[in-house]
Amino acid sequence: MEFSTYSRKKISLLIVPGPHDVGSAAAEIIKNTLKKKSRCVLGFATGSTTVPLYRELVGLYKRGVISFRDCICFTLDEYRHLPPIHRRSLRHFMEKNLFSRVDIPRENIHYLNGAADDPERECRAYGEEIRRAGGIDVQILGIGFNGHIGYNEPGSSRLSRTRMVMLSEETRARLRPLFGQTGPPRYALTMGVATILSAKRILLLAAGRDKSRVIDKALREKPAGDLPASFLQTYPGPITVILDTQAARLLPH
Ligand code: F6R
Repeated sequence: MEFSTYSRKKISLLIVPGPHDVGSAAAEIIKNTLKKKSRCVLGFATGSTTVPLYRELVGLYKRGVISFRDCICFTLDEYRHLPPIHRRSLRHFMEKNLFSRVDIPRENIHYLNGAADDPERECRAYGEEIRRAGGIDVQILGIGFNGHIGYNEPGSSRLSRTRMVMLSEETRARLRPLFGQTGPPRYALTMGVATILSAKRILLLAAGRDKSRVIDKALREKPAGDLPASFLQTYPGPITVILDTQAARLLPH
């Protein structure tokens, strides 16, 4: 199904019954991409929405349907000051849910090091690594309740590149239960909006009733920095939005 957004860019919309189906539908697209081009550059988001996707990809790999042998992978973002081995780091999330369970060669796994001495240099180097890999073929995205993509929080520019950002109070409040006494991180390193929009294909995933408002606004309101996900409407390439029925409930059918 195609869906006209505020800026009239057509977006392919796939509505599936539940969160698990969001993961299976996204995995199916990645499977087909890998079948066509085994040397594929994949950009991965973290977060609860992506867990069923990674579970599904691991299943496909274990059944011998796909291989990540020739893939190059980039993780979208990382909390500042967390070493990669920290159990709440986004690198750790990717290791636990996907990288350690499939055959991606270690040297093909790229991630932002939140503990880097010089975060600016780290972000610049990451942009270079993406360019050297030939750009991202498929970028997986989730969406925050405040419309962030990656950690491009409200106020982010359409032109932003990979950089260090301050996390919004809303995002920090949602992270608080995960971080206990140390408190949630204040900063993160993230691919920028322009970096994300330079991927060759984007898959945006959302599930659950509490994502329905932000999805509706992101796809139907005029693109603006106070809702960075709305910039996806200006994306020139093919974009597929995969939603469960709850997340899609405010969209016109
Ligand atoms: C995580 C990321 C975030 C999440 C978003 C949704 O790498 O970049 O933008 O995709 O916060 O998270 P969940 O899926 O946990 O609701």
